Amino acid sequence: AKQLGDDLTEVLHTEAELRDRLAELAREIERDYAEQPPLLVGVLKGAVMVMADLARELNFHAQMDWMAVSSYGAGTKSSGVVRILKDLDSDITGRDVLIVEDIIDSGLTLSWLKENLQSRGAKSVRICTMLRKPKALKVEIDVEYVGFDIPVEFVVGYGLDYAEDYRNLRDVAILAPHVYSGE
Ligand code: PRP
Ligand code: MN
Ligand code: MG
Repeated sequence: AKQLGDDLTEVLHTEAELRDRLAELAREIERDYAEQPPLLVGVLKGAVMVMADLARELNFHAQMDWMAVSSYGAGTKSSGVVRILKDLDSDITGRDVLIVEDIIDSGLTLSWLKENLQSRGAKSVRICTMLRKPKALKVEIDVEYVGFDIPVEFVVGYGLDYAEDYRNLRDVAILAPHVYSGE
């Protein structure tokens, strides 16, 4: 049978690198929210791994809530159409919200989400993302906490999928183009 590591061309960031960088970000977040911990809002499904690791790294009471918004479907290109598949359980009026994401690619998902959460009366909305592709951005978006900037390649692992596969890969790796070139 196919192994998880088949069809990858290069590991961009190992599990250890991701963990170490996340610990650095956690120290910044602890310092910035010294008065009052934020509500962590994870964006399903990609953010599951970074949420699990970040929340456990933080040395304060980290409440978690989740939204599912999808703009990719099964393909590799962002459609720009954001749909809410699952909304927050909590009322965020007056709360400090920290959105937790795996990756910012075009930025369309997060710029939409940030505005959406601000319009609900959140006291503040900041963003923490493990990965960002600066050269793929289609909208300007302020991001307070970034793990790594990466090149414009199709990457998988650590929550990131291709057609729902590879999310459970521990590293972040580049997917071999032959896997999706038939699209
Ligand atoms: C991916 C990724 C981000 C978003 C980034 O999610 O997890 O949420 O796309 O793309 P953008 O910056 O171009 O908007 P996806 O829609 O694939 O859903 P998933 O998290 O369930 O994989
Ligand atoms: Mn996502
Ligand atoms: Mg996806």
